[in-house]
Parts: sequence; structure tokens; C-alpha cells
Amino acid sequence: MEQQKRYGHFDDQNREYVITDPQTPWPWINYLGNEDFFSLISNTAGGYSFYKDAKFRRITRYRYNNVPMDNGGRYFYIKDGDTVWNPGWKPCKTPLDFYECRHGMSYTRITGRKNGVEASVLFFVPLKKWAEVQKLTLKNESSEEKKLKLFSFEEWCLWNAATDMENFQRNFSTGEVEIEGSTIYHKTEYRERRNHYAFYHVNAPIQGFDTDRETFVGLYNEFADPQAVMEGKPRNSHAHGWSPIASHYIEVTLNPGESKDFVFLLGYIENEQDDKWESLQVINKKKAHALIAELDTTEKVDKAFAELNAYWDALLNIYNVRTGNDKLDRMVNIWNQYQCMVTFNFSRSASFFESGVGRGMGFRDSNQDLVGFVHQIPPRARQRIIDIASTQFPDGGCYHQYQPLTKRGNNDIGGGFNDDPCWLIFGTVAYIKETGDFSILDEMVPFDNQPGSEVTLFEHLKVSMDHVIKNLGPHMLPLIGRADWNDCLNLNCFSMDPNESFQTTENVTEGTKAESLMIAGLFVVTGKDYVALCKKIGKADEAERMQKAVDAMIDAVKKHGWDGEWYLRAYDFYGNKIGSNECDEAKIFIESQGWCTMAEIGAEDGMVAKSLDSCKKYLECEHGMVLNNPAFSKFIYEYGEISSYPEGYKENAGIFCHNNPWVIIGECIAGRGNDAWSHYAKILPSYVEEKYQTLHKVEPYVNCQMVAGKDAFKPGEGKNSWLTGTAAWMWYTVSEFILGIKPDYDGIRIDPCLPETATDYTVQRKFRDADYEITIHPNGQQKGVKKIVLDGQPVDGTVIPYSAGKHTVEVTM
Ligand code: GLC
Ligand code: GLC
Repeated sequence: MEQQKRYGHFDDQNREYVITDPQTPWPWINYLGNEDFFSLISNTAGGYSFYKDAKFRRITRYRYNNVPMDNGGRYFYIKDGDTVWNPGWKPCKTPLDFYECRHGMSYTRITGRKNGVEASVLFFVPLKKWAEVQKLTLKNESSEEKKLKLFSFEEWCLWNAATDMENFQRNFSTGEVEIEGSTIYHKTEYRERRNHYAFYHVNAPIQGFDTDRETFVGLYNEFADPQAVMEGKPRNSHAHGWSPIASHYIEVTLNPGESKDFVFLLGYIENEQDDKWESLQVINKKKAHALIAELDTTEKVDKAFAELNAYWDALLNIYNVRTGNDKLDRMVNIWNQYQCMVTFNFSRSASFFESGVGRGMGFRDSNQDLVGFVHQIPPRARQRIIDIASTQFPDGGCYHQYQPLTKRGNNDIGGGFNDDPCWLIFGTVAYIKETGDFSILDEMVPFDNQPGSEVTLFEHLKVSMDHVIKNLGPHMLPLIGRADWNDCLNLNCFSMDPNESFQTTENVTEGTKAESLMIAGLFVVTGKDYVALCKKIGKADEAERMQKAVDAMIDAVKKHGWDGEWYLRAYDFYGNKIGSNECDEAKIFIESQGWCTMAEIGAEDGMVAKSLDSCKKYLECEHGMVLNNPAFSKFIYEYGEISSYPEGYKENAGIFCHNNPWVIIGECIAGRGNDAWSHYAKILPSYVEEKYQTLHKVEPYVNCQMVAGKDAFKPGEGKNSWLTGTAAWMWYTVSEFILGIKPDYDGIRIDPCLPETATDYTVQRKFRDADYEITIHPNGQQKGVKKIVLDGQPVDGTVIPYSAGKHTVEVTM
């Protein structure tokens, strides 16, 4: 294969990905903000901001799937004589003399140069602030004086991103703004039931402004050639209805060599109901003034930026590895952990593939995301567990999604995904092992957010397990409900109406025999965890009760879930096998191989090894392992959405990266380090980055949800970047199973599984109040720890007991 064009490279020293060509194969984005105020920003400054919830509190407008791609964002127009250009190339697309975009940890810096002027913009959301800072530095690198006309640009969203895109009969009459000095306020709907507004400020006097889009852009012009900019003349327009925007106009004179900073601030404010107004129709701006005052000079902004960097230093110092392999180290130490924070924050709500209006936080998704994040900020993980559990129903079932703003279960999608309950155990156990905080189990947590329904979190875990046990099918395997982890395996759906959702439609459930081997494996894995937890907290009877259920599930899988060379995937409504050699297509699926091998079901009979071999034989290809093989070539009424996709995409034989780590962990548990590594490296972004930037298309610094599989038109093409459970699972796999540093209740278990070629490496791991420096000597072994020496003393077994302070650990395999 010939070398593909490259659009950028890693800068590990600065923890940045450096994009050197604005015309990337797809917008390559980054996320700003860590807690409440968030922004998406592409390499050409496209994207938008929101407060907490991308659907209900959208601050700036963005048009998905637009022509041209990625239109709309925070734009700076620089008019230098007759030339108008943007530092990020778009939207004018004036050819630049230099372009660079550096995506870093919660910040992005875009620099452009044109005709002797450099414009560099640093975008970030300061910690604990509800605002996006845009620090623009203009520098005259020529030998002549420059007189520049600078226009900023933001387009307001009318808060609810869904109605903003459709309810124009209303929207075009509601828009309202106020202008005060260098600040433009957006206050649509503030007069009625909203007590929040936004503003766009610059820390310099302005010579003009615009707030009405049509007046600024011109009805038949575009963002690429707004009339006001092209003519170098702001209109000082005041928006009434239609589409409010915010644009500042500043005249800048720069001597040769001179540079000037401008701090632009996009902020969000909430007021108390009885303190909304300063006077009739004049909003109370006290909080806005205060926020502006905190960030109105270069010094203050630089300090806030230093704090953000220190925050990331601390986070990324919790787990740090030195293997000598840059490609591995940069993913483990920087990008994988960064992506885990992003997925924890956003679940599957807002990316350039998730429009922010479709989904809130997923029950199963968020529990999995937690496992990639819990070591970073445990208190936030703790709160998340409580929030998630609060959307559970008394019978252990749960809302499939909830909205982050309200934390209420989402009625549009409802429940009935029978894998959901188990994930609560997965997330909670990971939290306790990381922190040692068993007190979370005693937290009183409601069902469906109903006051008065509170029981302990432990009780929630119990009803979760029981939900599986109470919903077994004819083979004593778990009933699947609407779907299990695979949202598209809809075995009770039976829909022939294209206007019905595959996810929420269950046309027939009476008499269903549809059972899931994926849930069976998941139940055994989480069941074992639950049993261990019960023993740990002195609930011996409950441990025994659940052990019996786990044993029964193992028996059921061995009896009814094995196809000879691999685990079956499911039984359909009628009790027919899915994922069997007897089937015409989709004879083998990845999910049950992953979960049943992780659960080690039938390992003693060779089932695990055979299943893993079958994954290599039938599922593996150059770009990873496909979900099922062969792909479905036609729609199958009784299977639902899975067979709706063309071959090689999404859940129909795409490489759904999320589930690859399950098999990799299965390989690690089985001690097959060479195989584990080869599967892992295939979907490790840094390896893909080196070879396939053009083919892969999406951001090369993070995992995407899906890479087109071997049956697709273009195998290797990536889609749905950023928001995917792959992030957490890649982290869990490499940190705990490959490098082998596994938090446990009483300490850290050391159990690496490596390729034979692995050389000595050192992991720096902060764990509770301790700091471990762990050096592993693999000696060509794939698995098996022979000797552990902790602070000079040999340790029995593979767990280094926890004690606060600094420790050195030497491990010989
Ligand atoms: C998406 C969903 C996730 C689901 C997966 C497989 O990533 O967010 O919940 O498990 O698709 O269908
Ligand atoms: C579709 C997608 C799947 C996703 C689901 C969420 O079914 O194929 O990946 O999880 O939608 O609603």
C-alpha cells in the first residue's frame, strides 16, 4: 500500500495533535470545557457551545450535514486592504501563507498567516467558568504599518437545539438582544420562562457591531462573504426576531513587529427568578459583569490557561507508562485518557456525528464510560453512579437514557434493554476498587427519581442482578428485551413500518423465546464481581444465592450456548439459533465471544481457546475484528435493525471498535499475549494514524465507533468519531489487562499479558493516597508473574497491598 497523504502529526511534548492542512478528510474536532460549559471546535473553528445539555441549552447555532461541510462556528474575519481572510482558513477559504491547528487537552490553538500578518487564536473554557475564552493575538510581521479591520462572529441558537431547527413560524419572531459597550447580550425567551442569557464580549473598545444575521451577512451571501465584512462597514444592526448573531467590529493599527491581544469571551449566565431584571426589559447584567471582570486581560486569561494545563498535568500523572514505544505511550498517557474524559462528559450526545438532540446520557454507555474515567476524578464518578441509578425502576429495569440537564429518564426511548441493569454493577465495582469507598453502597438512591422511593445503592445492585434472573427464557438464558448491548439486535420488534423506531418498537413480546448469550456472559462476569463484593461486605448469604445463579448461567451457556467452534449469539423469537454454523449468514458474532471468554465459560473444556481462535479465523481483518461474519446481505424481519445496514457498516459486520477489547481481554485472561497485542494494535489510533489518514478519514488521535469492515465498499474507513465506549474499553484493556495494573479492593493486582517482544517498562500509578512506581520485567513471557518485590520486600501472590505513601515495585515474569 502506498504512503497516504498526512494532514498532521503528534507533538507528545506538548500533548497536542498538530494539523498542518485545513482540508482534512473530515473535520477533525476537539472538545473544550470540563464540567458545565462545553464547546465543540473543529480544526477550522467550526462547532458550537452549550451549557450542560446539547439539546436543551444550546448557546450557539450549528447546522449539521451542511454544504459546504462544517459551516458555522466562531469566526474572525480580518480585512487587510482588499483581502479578507480567517486564521482557520474557513469560511472565506482565502489561501493562507501558513496554517496550523493544535488540538490539546481541552484547548485548541489555531494560527494563520497572510500577507505579513499572523493571527493566532487560543480557544479554551477556564476551569469552573461558564465561558469560552478566545484569545486572539494579531501580529504584524511585515515591515509596513498595517491597518486591519477585524470582525468577530457568533450565531446564537434559540436555546432548544431541536425546536431551533424546525419551529420557524415562532423562532423568527422571538429573537432579542441587548448591546452595552463591547458586549452583545442574547436574551431570547428571557422575558418569559427562561432565567438565563448569553453574551459575547471583547476587552477592547469597538467601532461598530452587528446583531442581525441578514443585515450582517446579506440574504443571498454566505459566511464566506458577509456583506458587512466585504465592504469593511459594520451596520450596527439591532436584531428583532429573525436570526440574532453577535459580531464586533474593531479597527486595529499595527506597527511593524507589533502585536496586540484581544480577549473575546462567550459567556452564559443564570439569574434567580426574582432578580432577573434591572428595569423593564433590561436584563440584570451583574453576573455577566463579574464574569467579564475575571477574564478581561491577557494576564488573567494566561493564568486561567496555566490552571487548565496544571489540571491536566495532575490528571495525566495518575497513570503514566514508559515503555519506550512512543505509539503506545502517547495513547496510554495522553489521548486515550483524554478521550475517556470526553466520553464521560458527553456520553453519546454531541459530536460531529451525534447532533446533540437525539440522545442524552445512556445507562449502559455511561456505566462503561465511568471505567475509563474513575481513576481521574473519583468524586465525579461517584455522583454519576448515583445519577444513573436514580433512573432505575423498582424491578431493576431502567431508562435507557436520561437528559443531563434534568437528570430524568427519557420517556421517548423508555426501557426494556435487558443488558442495562448489569452495567450498574460493572461501574460501581470499578469505582469501589479504585477508591476503597464502600460507603457509596449505603447511599439512599430513588427509583425513577421518585421522592420517597429511596433504597440503598446496594439494593439497586441487587435488583439489577435479579432483573436478569427473573427474565430467563426457555434455555434458562437471559431474555433480550428490546436489545442487549447491540442496539440493533431487535428480536421482538417485527417492524415493517419504516416510520417505527427499531429501538422502541416491540410489536410482539408475548411468548418470546428471544435470549441473549451476550447478556449471559455479561451476567457471569458482573455476577462474579457482585459475589466478591458481597463477601467483602459480609453478606455471605447473598453471595451464596448469587453464586448459584451464576453457576446456573454457566451451565446454561455450556448446554445451550455453544455451537462447536464458538458461542452462539442468541435465540430468536421462535427459539431458532442466531450466530450458528447452521445459519446462512452471520454464523458468528463477536459480542458473545467477548463476554463468554471474559467469563471463562467452559475454559476447562477448551471452549474459550476455540472461541478466540474462531475470532481470529472469521472476524479478524486488517483493520480489526468485524462484528459478525458473513455480513447479512438482506433484511431479516425477525432480527430488526442489524440486517438493515449494508454489508460491512455499523452493526452489520462493521468493525464496531467498542467490542474488540472484549475479545482482547478474553485473550489476556487466557494468557495469549501475542494475539491480544495484535488485535489491540490494529485499532490503536496511533498505529492507524501512521498508515491511513486519508482512508480512515476521522480524527487520528482518538478511536471512532466504527470502521468499515471487510465486506464494506471501502474497508478501513472510519465513522462516528470521539463518542464511543471504545475509549473506556481501550483504556481498561491496556491499563489493566495488557500492562496489568489492576485496582482491587485491598491493593493493586499485577498481572500483565504481553507480546513476547515486550521489553521492561515502568508504570507510575497514583492509587488513593499512594504513589507506586512499578517496573515490570517481562523476560519474554506473555503471562504469569513470578515474583513481586515491594519496597525491597517480597510479596506473596499478585496483589500489592495498599498503604499510603511512595512505593517502588519490581515485578519479574
Ligand atoms: C452505540 C450505542 C451503544 C450500543 C452500541 C451498539 O454505540 O451508544 O449503547 O451498545 O451502539 O449497538
Ligand atoms: C442505531 C445505531 C446504534 C446506536 C443506536 C442508538 O441503532 O446503529 O449504533 O446505538 O442507533 O439509538
